[in-house]
Amino acid sequence: ISLKPYNTFGLNAQARYFIKVESVQQLIEALSLDQYPNKFILGGGSNMLLTKDLDCLVIQVAIKGVEIIEQKENCVWVKASAGENWHEFVLWCLAHDFGGIENLSLIPGNVGTAPIQNIGAYGVEIKDTLESCEALNIATKTIETFTNAECKFDYRESIFKQEKKHAYVLVSATFKLTTSNHQLHMDYGAITSQLEMMQVKAPTIQDISKAVIAIRESKLPNPKDIGNSGSFFKNPIISKGHFEKLRENFPEIPSYTVSPNEVKVPAGWLIEKSGFKGKTFDQYGVHKKQALVLVNYGNARGLEIYNLAKLIQKTIQQLFGISIEMEVNII
Ligand code: EPU
Repeated sequence: ISLKPYNTFGLNAQARYFIKVESVQQLIEALSLDQYPNKFILGGGSNMLLTKDLDCLVIQVAIKGVEIIEQKENCVWVKASAGENWHEFVLWCLAHDFGGIENLSLIPGNVGTAPIQNIGAYGVEIKDTLESCEALNIATKTIETFTNAECKFDYRESIFKQEKKHAYVLVSATFKLTTSNHQLHMDYGAITSQLEMMQVKAPTIQDISKAVIAIRESKLPNPKDIGNSGSFFKNPIISKGHFEKLRENFPEIPSYTVSPNEVKVPAGWLIEKSGFKGKTFDQYGVHKKQALVLVNYGNARGLEIYNLAKLIQKTIQQLFGISIEMEVNII
């Protein structure tokens, strides 16, 4: 079957066999189908670039369910199953006035894949509220619980992308959220200006979500209209010395301090400065409003987008001496 509806890049790669699982039991059964030795786990398909057909059994994790586990003082613990759409889960929390993930509104993908790359936006990451997650150990077919610390979260990183890659399938995640006295995260400049534009004086978590949605819609393409996987690269971290050198030639280079000796430089700026922003090659290219996003205008092939990504990496290496890492999983 075509995987086009199952990846936000909208790439028309084929799966040899495809199965959708709606419970942990079904997931275990699918993983036990020995006649298909090679298996590929699919979540929301929002962070991958399919460069080829998958000559194996593709297992789509569609386990649903959201439940309140515990509530005390001004906290609530909510457990969501892996197959829940992330944004719908955020909206569910907002409808219940549960705070903590409103800045992560409108991020594509599912609950089960969000912790793998520690999704983040506008000053908040999933690691800030994730209490624990449950994952099926593929080898033993048993469920294991990972605490927040055990997930080893970092900027767009977790244990599930590193030493435990391909060893587990996430089946649920539990979040510790607030029911009152919500802590608002508005340090990201764009949020305050958006709230001003919306003439909101005393913002609620629902207002923050609306502001984030408006900002995202203004510069990030909706995968329903234009295929994409959000930021294609991570923002690189470079030494202060390197940065000062670059500033001699590019006085306007933006940066965020991450430690006394290191700064993070927006990859979007480097890509724009390299002349790639808005560049279109046949059916694919670099998004016009946000250079960090590579797009498929319809019938591009994953390999073409991958080659463009490699060209961008090479150009940035040559121009700035910075190597930028792909954030999207290349399949
Ligand atoms: N910039 C440009 N040109 C561009 C894009 C960006 O010059 O075309 C520069 C500007 O200076 C701008 C700065 O980069 O002020 C930052 O841009 P933006 O606020 O759009 O954020 P980003 O660093 O490009 C990161 C995340 C996004 C997240 C936003 C907001 C990564 C890899 N990306 O992007 O996450 O939504 O911050 O917090 O960290 C994603 O991971 O898929 C994603 C969309």
